[in-house]
Amino acid sequence: VAATRTNSPLEVMAEPLEGSYFVSTYPPFSTWSGSARECYRAALANESTADVPLGLYAHIPFCDLRCRYCYYLSQANPAADSVESYLDCLEVEMALLGASPALRHRELSFIYFGGGTPSMLLPDQIERLMAFVRRSFTWAEGAEVTFECAPRTVGVDRLAVLRQCGVTRLSLGVQQLDDEVLSRNGRVHTVSDVEKAVECIQSVGFDVVNLDLIVGLVGETEDTFFRSLGRVIEMDPQSVTLYQLEIPFNTPLARAVRSRRDSLAIPSWETKRRRLDAAFRRLEGAGYFVRSAYAAVRNPSQHGFVYQDSQYRGADLVGAGASAFSYLSGVHHQNLASVRDYSTCLGRGDLPLYRAHALSADEQMVRQFVLQLKLGGCRTGAFRRSFDVDPLERFAQPLSHFEGLGWVEADADAVRVTREGLLRVDRMIPAFYNAEHQTVRYS
Ligand SMILES: C[S@@+](CC[C@H](N)C(=O)[O-])C[C@H]1O[C@@H](n2cnc3c(N)ncnc32)[C@H](O)[C@@H]1O
Ligand code: SF4
Repeated sequence: VAATRTNSPLEVMAEPLEGSYFVSTYPPFSTWSGSARECYRAALANESTADVPLGLYAHIPFCDLRCRYCYYLSQANPAADSVESYLDCLEVEMALLGASPALRHRELSFIYFGGGTPSMLLPDQIERLMAFVRRSFTWAEGAEVTFECAPRTVGVDRLAVLRQCGVTRLSLGVQQLDDEVLSRNGRVHTVSDVEKAVECIQSVGFDVVNLDLIVGLVGETEDTFFRSLGRVIEMDPQSVTLYQLEIPFNTPLARAVRSRRDSLAIPSWETKRRRLDAAFRRLEGAGYFVRSAYAAVRNPSQHGFVYQDSQYRGADLVGAGASAFSYLSGVHHQNLASVRDYSTCLGRGDLPLYRAHALSADEQMVRQFVLQLKLGGCRTGAFRRSFDVDPLERFAQPLSHFEGLGWVEADADAVRVTREGLLRVDRMIPAFYNAEHQTVRYS
């Protein structure tokens, strides 16, 4: 393990309007390769001795309509038989994964149904999905089971099935409560759809209800954003997540920005940070606690987000579904990212392997350090015990740079990300990467 690296914090801190912002893992996806996918196959074939939690992610790639800013794999307005065929494939994949030597004796600690829009599934499809997940895996009583929903698809029938099937955490994509802003960004729902959905969700009752908002949508103003936030606080969810809008390449919004349509109506990064900062303060004033760079919750000991916290602390995650990501025994993997290729592979009884990266011990250490910054930092002693690396020495250069800016505080006990740092944590993170990863594209 090298003692120091030539990180260059200033170089990696540019703020273009277009491109990825959110860092979900390390090393960047663009360094993963097809040839390394056999490493993931090998990780599944080896009985695991891991002492970290294991989670399951299932991807449901369907939506009513595509939002202009969205880069997730998802098909708009799918035909009924495409959804059924997709579930057939998912069932085969889960059975293969659940029977693998690495997973067959392990219990899941958390499950996440994401998309796309999992709540597009009809009640009987949700029952079928949950039944085959249960046939393939076991999970601990009380484990967190999250289901992502969009407002128009939420009704009492579906919600009752979700609750009965063991969903504990319901996450609703609200984004903003202003009809014009919603429509300019390609959302199909209206403010009144959200109001009805939240009422329904609260009448059925889940342990944690999370509402997602986006800061910086096209056409957003101080007034639309803070009115939305005020209304969300009145709805009294246990958790509020706030993402700063990113405009990934290859989205309709990125094309509009490039041709200079819309660019003037998109808040700058500085404006997004200022609004997010004020939003966190409003939420704190209303009794919420900021628990990460993205979320505020009513009660941190009851309303955690096990899926995110566990991954950021090094848990294993097995992904199922087209484009789904996994991290198992130090190997990153992504499934085939086209539904057709994914289905063809499973039709033959093969796992839909696409690209992977086997992390060196050093990369695993960097990964865990940077992901924990999103949760506010780490204890230096615990980090040293896990990796035999002193983070204060290893990351001395970027830490001292960011301490100078007031974005982190580091001492013998802990590395702490300040509020100023949390507001731009995904900008800061690449400065901690190994030199060879600092200049590559993220995805
Ligand atoms: C898969 S979506 C959630 C469920 C559902 N599809 C929806 O949008 O209502 C996950 C969340 O990612 C966030 N998101 C999606 N694209 C984004 C982008 N370009 N920038 C910031 N946040 C984004 C949204 O807040 C969204 O709720
Ligand atoms: S943001 Fe959600 S609803 Fe919109 S296209 Fe993406 S996954 Fe679908």
